[in-house]
Amino acid sequence: MSAPLTILGIETSCDETAVAVLRGTPGARPQILANLVLSQIETHAPYGGVVPEIAARAHIEALDALITAALKEADLTFEDLTAIAATAGPGLVGGVIVGLMTAKGIAHAQNLPLVGVNHLEGHALSVRLTEEVAFPYLLLLVSGGHCQLLAVEGPGKYRLYGATIDDAVGEAFDKTAKMLNLPYPGGPSVETAALDGDPSRFDLPRPLIHRPGCDFSFSGLKTAVRHAAEGLNKERLESQDVNDLAASFQAAVTDVLASRAGHAMTRFIEDYPGADRTLVVAGGVAANKHLRAHLDTAAADRGFTLIAPPGKFCTDNAAMIAWAGLELYSLGQRDTLALSPRARWPLDTDANHPGAKV
Ligand code: KG4
Ligand code: ZN
Repeated sequence: MSAPLTILGIETSCDETAVAVLRGTPGARPQILANLVLSQIETHAPYGGVVPEIAARAHIEALDALITAALKEADLTFEDLTAIAATAGPGLVGGVIVGLMTAKGIAHAQNLPLVGVNHLEGHALSVRLTEEVAFPYLLLLVSGGHCQLLAVEGPGKYRLYGATIDDAVGEAFDKTAKMLNLPYPGGPSVETAALDGDPSRFDLPRPLIHRPGCDFSFSGLKTAVRHAAEGLNKERLESQDVNDLAASFQAAVTDVLASRAGHAMTRFIEDYPGADRTLVVAGGVAANKHLRAHLDTAAADRGFTLIAPPGKFCTDNAAMIAWAGLELYSLGQRDTLALSPRARWPLDTDANHPGAKV
């Protein structure tokens, strides 16, 4: 067995400044020596969404101290590291620049190899931080910027089955929350409101549900929530109205995701007849418990096992970046200081899909 690798990971592509240190070898669960996440939620809350310029400045202010703190927690110095991994895109480019340039500076000064990581690949491989899941597996990636179904054949090898043709699913949660005057960030507040709501009170559409294939659409659903709220003809929605709208919205999203995942499971079995039947859900929206429960049933109906990383590895974190970095490093990836940050960076090898929105 090869010697363990020690990787420091940096994540700054959205509104979390995150640094992690891992030690391990590919294919076995690593030791997570430090996993620090500094959320900017309170900074952005007054604006009801992430303000890119403010996010980039906040990353600059926090990152150096967070790297020092992560190394201290891991009880290591730069000399103990095998390599440094950083998100190189996709995301808010100002933030990506902060993390990647910091990683480049450390790599140069400490003579360490640099591995640029696709943020989506971080989410895609995050399940292997805590579970020994073999390749290939089917992945439902649901985050603030993405909604995709992919076959994960290995690091750097992804086959896209379907993606959203308009809004990402987390974006739909966030916009619905805003419409309902629920606090930012929207996903968790919609989930909490839905706990006390009646999901059958509003008959919302399930876009594309009767169509073949694995693509998604959420913008019509968001509009339907607005029409349903306006249809109540109230100056101010009562809290039961908000809860019922949140529950109806969440039920519609869940039905769509579970049905499209069903089509993808059928295709996965055709494409990889000998593979384990594993459906992985990852990305921030995968923290949603209602969604997890329904996907679990949809998976079981088709002989699949649903695996979802713990919530803290679903939302943005640097452990997943360090882990993807570790897997890519062990396959020989080394980036130079010329590596450019990318605002757009589709994951699949054949990235011309109309829904490959990044
Ligand atoms: O993966 P992530 O942390 O960042 C991106 O890469 O986009 O995902 C953030 C998204 C946000 O849209 C947030 O509202 C959503 O994930 N989210 C949730 C939940 N927790 C976070 N959506 C639904 N239910 C949740 N519990
Ligand atoms: Zn993310």
